[in-house]
Amino acid sequence: MSSIPLLNQLRAEHRPAILAHLLRLEMEDRTQRFGQPVATEIVERYVEQLDFSRDAHFGILHRDQDGSTQLIGHTHLGIDARGLCGEIGVSVERPFQRRGLATRMLTRAIVHARNVGVREIVMYFLPYNTSLMELARSLGMSLSLGSGEGMARLANLSASPVSMASEWLDLCNEVGERTVGELAQVAGSTSEQMRRLLAGQLT
Ligand SMILES: CC(C)(COP(=O)(O)OP(=O)(O)OC[C@H]1O[C@@H](n2cnc3c(N)ncnc32)[C@H](O)[C@@H]1OP(=O)(O)O)[C@@H](O)C(=O)NCCC(=O)NCCS
Repeated sequence: MSSIPLLNQLRAEHRPAILAHLLRLEMEDRTQRFGQPVATEIVERYVEQLDFSRDAHFGILHRDQDGSTQLIGHTHLGIDARGLCGEIGVSVERPFQRRGLATRMLTRAIVHARNVGVREIVMYFLPYNTSLMELARSLGMSLSLGSGEGMARLANLSASPVSMASEWLDLCNEVGERTVGELAQVAGSTSEQMRRLLAGQLT
């Protein structure tokens, strides 16, 4: 375990790395991630069906001393068809837990959600998932507990010049992972969003 793990927005080509990460999770963590015990085939189907256009995925890449890179954390921000509500699923592998990695991914996912117009984010968890409850509280989410599952919620979200600048800076830090064309495209859409925001069109 050497350098600082990198946080990146993931693309469809990261599917195999996401699958490998989810299959490396301890069974207990896999159960907590999916809200119930799930067989390997279900995880495979979940990864095959992931959407990378409307939804957003963030991952923590850990580079080992031998230079090999592994995805050791994943956050899926699912966005509903109206683009107003987001649902987050998050996981970090055991040897890397309690280092603030889920906090980093969730903070990034929330900023992204705000910037694309999502107004509310929810995270479902099993009622005994105390780590997730603490984590959600630390992010300012409100918690409610039902009989079978709990829900963490962040409401009244909106974009701001700060949230846009923050995401742009994060994307620039990924420059090694992105082509110049992709960065130019992101720059174009960010400045358009910023222009609309300043003109009062994003509320
Ligand atoms: C929940 C999970 C994602 C947290 O990942 P993580 O990278 O360890 O979280 P962080 O290091 O960012 O923790 C942030 C805060 O959350 C709380 N927290 C995290 N793990 C905790 C634990 N085991 N016990 C108590 N509090 C915990 C703490 O307040 C922590 O801050 P601190 O370390 O400064 O005290 C990880 O435990 C996991 O993958 N669990 C299995 C999957 C899961 O439950 N997913 C949630 C449902 S989608």
